[in-house]
Amino acid sequence: MLSSNHTGTMTLAATAPVTILAIESSCDETSCAISRDGLILANIIAGQAVHEQYGGVVPELASRAHMQNIVPVVDAAMKKAGIAMTELNAIAFTQAPGLIGSLLVGSQFAKSLAMSLGIPLLAVHHMQAHVLANLIPGVATPATTGAATADSGNSAATGANPPQAAAMAAGASTPLPSFPFLCLTVSGGHTQIVVAHSPLKLEVIGETLDDAAGEAFDKSAKLLGLPYPGGPLIDKYAREGSPGRFTFPEPQIPGLNFSFSGLKTAILYFLRDQKAKDPDFVTKNLPDICASIQGRIISILLNKLKKAARETGIKDLCIAGGVSANSGLRKAFRETGESLGWRTFIPAFEYCTDNAAMIAITGYYHYLAGDFARLSASASARADW
Ligand code: KG4
Ligand code: ZN
Repeated sequence: MLSSNHTGTMTLAATAPVTILAIESSCDETSCAISRDGLILANIIAGQAVHEQYGGVVPELASRAHMQNIVPVVDAAMKKAGIAMTELNAIAFTQAPGLIGSLLVGSQFAKSLAMSLGIPLLAVHHMQAHVLANLIPGVATPATTGAATADSGNSAATGANPPQAAAMAAGASTPLPSFPFLCLTVSGGHTQIVVAHSPLKLEVIGETLDDAAGEAFDKSAKLLGLPYPGGPLIDKYAREGSPGRFTFPEPQIPGLNFSFSGLKTAILYFLRDQKAKDPDFVTKNLPDICASIQGRIISILLNKLKKAARETGIKDLCIAGGVSANSGLRKAFRETGESLGWRTFIPAFEYCTDNAAMIAITGYYHYLAGDFARLSASASARADW
């Protein structure tokens, strides 16, 4: 088992298991997970269909739905994990960033539970948690060359990361990335390239200057008349289409930063011109349009990731966040990794979009470091690293 001494150093010691209940409520998913020594026992996620009709998340409706969902979701997670409240050692929650009304529901619930059980509170940064989804034992998919997959020099095997060693000892079989690793985090609100020096020392080395990759998907989908969230629908139609059929521009942004607003404008004018010639253009060409848009978003993302890998010399690469559920991105990331000799890691689908399992694993690392939050810790819409 694992414990942390007063300096926050992680050590292996013969202590009782650490069981954490984690809550995620930063946007429009209410989720509760239970972890024991870093292994996920339950991860329940309730979505909110109410936003579909509005073409985007309506903050007021989101917080109201969180209030309705939170008790049943926590209850279902406890039942699935088969544990009693008295077995919990800490409560983790998403503190920031996100929609403030949504964050408040989860954070108030977490604080009340921690206070009533007399156990510590762990405040988690949502974007850091997306990165650490790649450290959830048994779920990071090794998707590399045979040589890299056979490599036993990962953290779990070397003991560089004690929770991973414990997870492997407890039966998790998949290799996990070694530190330092690079992570491309692509969600509805963020697009970042992060160097993970250690579980709690993460450094953003590139980010979007305007729209996030998820927004590029969702806004393109809206222009095509598809409902929110459009990312998964573009993914679905793109599977039947040809990415080379239409060409959209790749922005020339210096360094490791991204920009997606020009792509959105290019798509807007392209569709306007094509529809002027043929009002049924979108209906007739939907798979090819989706494949071409998706192909350009992927090439923008992977070109910057390749540059980051070249500049840092890091060979363990991960993707994370809602857009990492995209089948085209997952495939292109694996293929790029194979051709460049990277070890590539992708979270399981359920840990790509918003979920509390990633909050639990990040909370666990805070627990091991002795990094507890005060009951006065407040939720925040924005957050630095
Ligand atoms: O990480 P996430 O669940 O929430 C945020 O923290 O933002 O990401 C949501 C984003 C949305 O923009 C959604 O359209 C996108 O992830 N997304 C996808 C796919 N699944 C979710 N984008 C493209 N392809 C997908 N399969
Ligand atoms: Zn997210």
